[in-house]
Amino acid sequence: MASSRMKPQDGIAWVTGASSGIGAAVALELARRDWTVAVTARRVDALEALAREADTLPGRIVAHAGDVTNARAMRTIVETIEAIHGPLALAFLNAGVAPRKRADAAVSGESVSEAVAVNLVGVANGLSAALPGMMQRRRGQLAVNASLVGYRGLPGAAVYGASKAAAIHLCESLRFDCDRAGVRLQIVNPGFVDTPMTRRNQFVMPFLMTVEEGARRIVDGFERGGFEIAFPRRLAWPMKLLRLLPYPVYFALMSRAARSSAKSD
Ligand SMILES: NC(=O)c1ccc[n+]([C@@H]2O[C@H](COP(=O)([O-])OP(=O)(O)OC[C@H]3O[C@@H](n4cnc5c(N)ncnc54)[C@H](OP(=O)(O)O)[C@@H]3O)[C@@H](O)[C@H]2O)c1
Repeated sequence: MASSRMKPQDGIAWVTGASSGIGAAVALELARRDWTVAVTARRVDALEALAREADTLPGRIVAHAGDVTNARAMRTIVETIEAIHGPLALAFLNAGVAPRKRADAAVSGESVSEAVAVNLVGVANGLSAALPGMMQRRRGQLAVNASLVGYRGLPGAAVYGASKAAAIHLCESLRFDCDRAGVRLQIVNPGFVDTPMTRRNQFVMPFLMTVEEGARRIVDGFERGGFEIAFPRRLAWPMKLLRLLPYPVYFALMSRAARSSAKSD
């Protein structure tokens, strides 16, 4: 049985990738809901500015900078957080990158390494830092930020999509161990959210939502506690249906969609 949904009085929350975008907005939303939130990313100044932004909120934000690709740094951050603030109750492993595409190649070893290092190994480093303590206490809640893009191979998303598909797979599999150990594991699969990452996109992003709205949906999902937090529904459900299609139908449909979106550019 997974542990119950965590509340601010159960301990501290930890958000990785919190120096901008979804991570920063989720940290603020948690502080609005009375959590003390430790935030991690590489840009210390941005984390400290975020901590100041939370000054007037019911909870608070404390900066613990670090690179998620460094396993030892992640373990040290969790040990430090717990020594100062008490047990880690909730972790949102959100740090991620979408490597820029090179003009000459849709996929390269370099871009795959970059995406996998942060979006998969970074998640694993966060899990291996946070999980042992939670498992020992048989209490805790962990959520990993993947993406709806990870459901199936989409045109133009080979590298990023593969790293997100792997993160989803990792969590689906790990969910069994977490359940047995009394820890609640969740996967977050957002559609398009307006952040520095998506502002670089040159294509039409259906149902793009504000980062504040995205953060509210994620934190509501933590409070509900189901395995998957996927939104917006009007994009998530068609994407779920696409997963069921046999390859010939799927490729024909997606090629047509890609052609018509290229025409409208
Ligand atoms: N925006 C969307 O539409 C969307 C949709 C689905 C999923 N997502 C996922 O949501 C997550 C957040 O993305 P975002 O859209 O909010 O983009 P963003 O504003 O670019 O945020 C990415 C965050 O990850 C951090 N990060 C990157 N590499 C890191 C590293 N090696 N170590 C520690 N932190 C690192 C960045 O901080 P530093 O640079 O300071 O380290 C930043 O805080 C990502 O996992 C992304 O794939 C986004």
